[in-house]
Amino acid sequence: MSIAIYPGTFDPITYGHIDVAKRASKAFDTLIVVAMNNSMKRDGLFNMEERIELLKKTFEGFDNIRIDSHSGLLVDYLKKTDIHVVVRGLRAVSDFEYEMQMAAANKALLPSLDTFFLMTDTQYSFISSTLVKEIAFHGENIDRWVPPYVKKRIKEKIDLIKKDL
Ligand code: COA
Repeated sequence: MSIAIYPGTFDPITYGHIDVAKRASKAFDTLIVVAMNNSMKRDGLFNMEERIELLKKTFEGFDNIRIDSHSGLLVDYLKKTDIHVVVRGLRAVSDFEYEMQMAAANKALLPSLDTFFLMTDTQYSFISSTLVKEIAFHGENIDRWVPPYVKKRIKEKIDLIKKDL
């Protein structure tokens, strides 16, 4: 049985991530979407519990997509679960260098690991969670990039932030 993980920060999940996860779930028997922390990124909008809640809601109808979380190195999660395949989405050439570095570093730490890349749908190739949050902060509509329940949660968070400003 083929099994792969799709790791990311998912702060929060966007249609770009959903597109990659859905397509990967067709290529593998089971896909585990794993919310992780990027230690270079501080002060996310959503904590791990909230990110997981949004991921679970997003994929509740998908029988072969599971949700998990992990703090620490990606390879430690793979060793712990005995999984050897990682899926990543590539948005643009600018992603390539970072992704290649990460895939190579992960492989150096765990030689049995293979990273599979999927091209993100072009309509989402320029967005990121940060960009969507920024656009929402300034009051523009983000319907094109996130599901309604994600938009609602972003708005709640932004309202709280604005109240403190
Ligand atoms: N469509 C739209 N946006 C996408 C996307 C897609 N298909 N794929 C990624 N993005 C965006 C994300 O929203 C994110 O935006 P942000 O920077 O504004 O938050 C950005 O692209 C980066 O994507 P993400 O997949 O979340 O990667 P990341 O750089 O935040 O972290 C981890 C990736 C969590 C997998 C990585 O940091 C990790 O493995 N951490 C664990 C520690 C570890 O092992 N580190 C060593 C690795 S060698």
